[in-house]
Amino acid sequence: MASSVDGFSKWTKAEKIKWVVDTYASDPQAVTSLLETYWHRDSDTQQLHDEFIENTLTNFYLPFGVAPNFVIDGTAYTLPMVIEESSVVAAACKSAKYWASRGGFHTQILGTDKVGQVHFTRNTSPEETRAFFEGIKAELLEGVAPLVANMELRGGGIRSITLVDKTQDLPNYYQLFVRFGTADAMGANFINSCLEQLAQTLKSADPELTVVMSILSNYVPDCTVRSEVSCPIADLGGVDGLSAEAFAQKIKQAVDIARVEPYRAVTHNKGIMNGIDAVVLATGNDFRAIEAGVHAYAAKDGRYTSLTHCSIESGIFRFWIEVPLSLGTVGGLTQLHPLVKWSLEMLGKPSAQQLMGIVAAAGLAQNWAAVQSLVTTGIQKGHMKMHLLNILNQLGADAEEKAAMVDYFKTHTVHYQGVVQALTDYRNNR
Ligand code: MEV
Repeated sequence: MASSVDGFSKWTKAEKIKWVVDTYASDPQAVTSLLETYWHRDSDTQQLHDEFIENTLTNFYLPFGVAPNFVIDGTAYTLPMVIEESSVVAAACKSAKYWASRGGFHTQILGTDKVGQVHFTRNTSPEETRAFFEGIKAELLEGVAPLVANMELRGGGIRSITLVDKTQDLPNYYQLFVRFGTADAMGANFINSCLEQLAQTLKSADPELTVVMSILSNYVPDCTVRSEVSCPIADLGGVDGLSAEAFAQKIKQAVDIARVEPYRAVTHNKGIMNGIDAVVLATGNDFRAIEAGVHAYAAKDGRYTSLTHCSIESGIFRFWIEVPLSLGTVGGLTQLHPLVKWSLEMLGKPSAQQLMGIVAAAGLAQNWAAVQSLVTTGIQKGHMKMHLLNILNQLGADAEEKAAMVDYFKTHTVHYQGVVQALTDYRNNR
C-alpha cells in the first residue's frame, strides 16, 4: 500500500505521474504512456483541461454523440450527448424521429426560482427573532446590492428573503431562505457570494447569533419545466402486433406503475436521466446538482414517483415530463470547454430557459424509447444489438471480424456466449 504523501498538489505534473505510476502500476512504462496517449495533442487545450481541477494526470474520454431530428417548440435541433451507455443515443434518435412526425415536443417553463439558505442559530424566542429580521431586512438587501447589481441588469437578482423558524426541528435553528433569479447563468457562485454577504450582515447586526453555514440548495422545485408530446391515439400506429389503442394503454399502464411503485420508479427515472445527463454533460452543466435535485423532486410528495405522466382522454394520447432543471448557458465551463462551446453553438446558443426545454425533451424522449421497448419487444433486443461492438472489442475482434459479426447478428440474438461462439467459428473457418 502507498505511503502518505505531502505537498502533492504543488508537484509538477511529471512528478505526480511518476509517483502514481511507481506506486501503483505493475508496468510503470505502459501506464505512463497510457496516460500520455490521452493527453490532448494541443498543449494549450491540455493546459485548459489541467486547470479545470487539481492534480490532473490526463483526460478521461467519454463518447460525444449527436441525436438529430428533435423538433422542440417548432424548432429542429440536433442534440449533443455525452454518454457511455451503448443504446442511449440510438434510443433518443428513434424517439425524436417518431415524435417529429407527430408535432414534436412542446415545452413550458413553470418557474425559474433558485434557492439559497443562511443557516443560523439564535438563542431568542421566534417572535423576537422575527422582529429582529424585519428590523434588518433593508440592511440585508443594502449589503448585497453591489453583488446583485449586474445580475439585475440581466433580469435576475434576489426575488425574496424570508425568515424560516426551524426551532421545532432543532433548538434555536433559523434560516434566511432566499429566492434568486440567475438569468442565463446556473448561478452557483452568484448565489453563494450573496448568501455569504447576507450572513455577514446578519452577524454584524447581532454578534451573539451563530451563522452555521451559507449555501445554495440543489433542491429547486420552483425551477421547473414541462415537456410534452401528444397525438390522436390512431396516429401512434400499431407497434409489434399491438393495435394503436392497445399500445397506448400499455404505455399508460407502464407509466402508472412507475407512479405508484418506487422500485420501478427509480429505474424509470434512471432511463430519463440517461437522456438528461447526456445533454447536461455536453453543455457543461453540473450533472450531480441536476441528479440531486431531480430525485428530491421525484420524492417531494413523500413517496418516490415517476417524473413522467401519461393520459388518454377523448382519443388523445398525452405523455409529459415535469422536472426541475437549474441550468446555465453562460459562465462556468460554457465559455471554456471547447466541446461545450460547440454543443451550445449546435443548439443555436440557447438561453437557459430554452436549454431547460431541450434537456427535458431529451429526458422525455429517452423515457418514451425505454417504455415503448419494455411494453413490446423488451429492452434487451435493442440494447444487446448496440452492445455487440463492445463485446467484439472486448474479444479483440479486428475490422473484418466485426463486419462479419454485425452481419451475422442481424438475424441472431446477441448474448455474450453467442458472440464468443460465432467469433470462434468465424476465426476457425477464415
Ligand atoms: C437503462 O439504462 C434504462 C432502462 O432500464 C430504463 C427503464 O427501465 O425505463 C431501460
